[in-house]
Amino acid sequence: MIGCGVVGTGVFRVLAEHGELIETRLGAPLEIVRVAVRDPSRVRGELVPREKLTTDVDAILEDPEIDVVVELVGGVERPFEWLKKAMERGKHVVTANKAVMAVRGEELIAIAEARGVDLIYEGAVAGGVPILRVIREAFASDKIVELRGIVNGTSNYILTRMSEAKLSFQEALAEAQAKGYAEADPSLDVNGGDACHKLTLLARLAFGAKIRPEDIPTEGIDIVDARDMELARRFGYVVKPLAVASIRTGALDARVHPALVPARSDLAAIHGATNAVHVEGALVGPTMFSGAGAGAEPTAVSVVADIIDVARNILADSAGRVAPGCVLGVAIREFPRLPPEELSLPYYIRLSVDDDAGVLAEVASALGQNRVSIEAVVQTVQEAERSATVVLLTHEARETDVRAALALIAELPALREPPVVLRIVR
Ligand code: HSE
Repeated sequence: MIGCGVVGTGVFRVLAEHGELIETRLGAPLEIVRVAVRDPSRVRGELVPREKLTTDVDAILEDPEIDVVVELVGGVERPFEWLKKAMERGKHVVTANKAVMAVRGEELIAIAEARGVDLIYEGAVAGGVPILRVIREAFASDKIVELRGIVNGTSNYILTRMSEAKLSFQEALAEAQAKGYAEADPSLDVNGGDACHKLTLLARLAFGAKIRPEDIPTEGIDIVDARDMELARRFGYVVKPLAVASIRTGALDARVHPALVPARSDLAAIHGATNAVHVEGALVGPTMFSGAGAGAEPTAVSVVADIIDVARNILADSAGRVAPGCVLGVAIREFPRLPPEELSLPYYIRLSVDDDAGVLAEVASALGQNRVSIEAVVQTVQEAERSATVVLLTHEARETDVRAALALIAELPALREPPVVLRIVR
């Protein structure tokens, strides 16, 4: 094992508590031979035997007795080199690292195929929710047309706590960090980067699409204000951190952003660090999978299940025969992308403006000129400041038209703050 932080210590717990059960199911014991860490004095947990710790990754990669290398560090370049080196030495690899699989996954999958080894990464997406297995195995007979997920536990936790306990963004983030949900660099959680990596893996696997993180327009929950959560509720919506990928139109539409979802929808009921992925298959129809998306034990359950899969393949002499990174044996290929001007959704717009005659008419005119039709408007007046908060929900409109209207609105002298715009996903 390389790395022994939150998930690594969870792996030791899973093996300590379920070692016998696993041995019975597998027909062989699993043993952690060695654990490479940067600083052994910082490894926590009484379950981690100190004599197994080393600071030398090569002591693992070059040990011919080791069958499987499990990478739990995170980041891209160093893990890429470790995984590559391990596979080149004929070792099977398991990782929970979404960044390396998103950024350099295609290369790693090619190496696994060439070397005939297994490369499995269930722990990289949605923690304890076995969503990659579902896509790869359970829906092997269907064609997936759309995925919609809440795949960053920290973001969902923060929005939930801001909404339910009225915590500030910083307070809620501090709680998520204390609970071990957040990445070492929590900006990846709140700016959507982590969800973007996970959506890259989901879309690659579900659609066989060649896709990279930079192909996915990404907005984080750092654009969400507590006022918008409250206002959304008045219209019957809740704000959720979504990752969406669809091939419904024949072109691939993939994006990560906070969105208003109807308060009665299944994703609205996903609270705290829980993750959920709504998968729609052409024949199976809509399905949803949810559970703990972050944290030590749930993610470790996925990692150890991957190790068991590899071990089963070794015992059955079938390791590496079907590269598990591939889509049901279909090669990863270029997919046409939905042109941005074809994205069409309803939108939520919040404006802070001078409370003067004609201002609402100017706003309505900017929208009307750009073919954006208004579904609902609510205005509240702040008498003391002579200002008004105007919230508009639009009918379905092309995003390029909404952006053009907002560019006109941004020029209005009556505007007091930059407009806030959020997508509505029904
Ligand atoms: N930081 C991630 C999250 C952990 O909050 O979802 C799981 O990948």
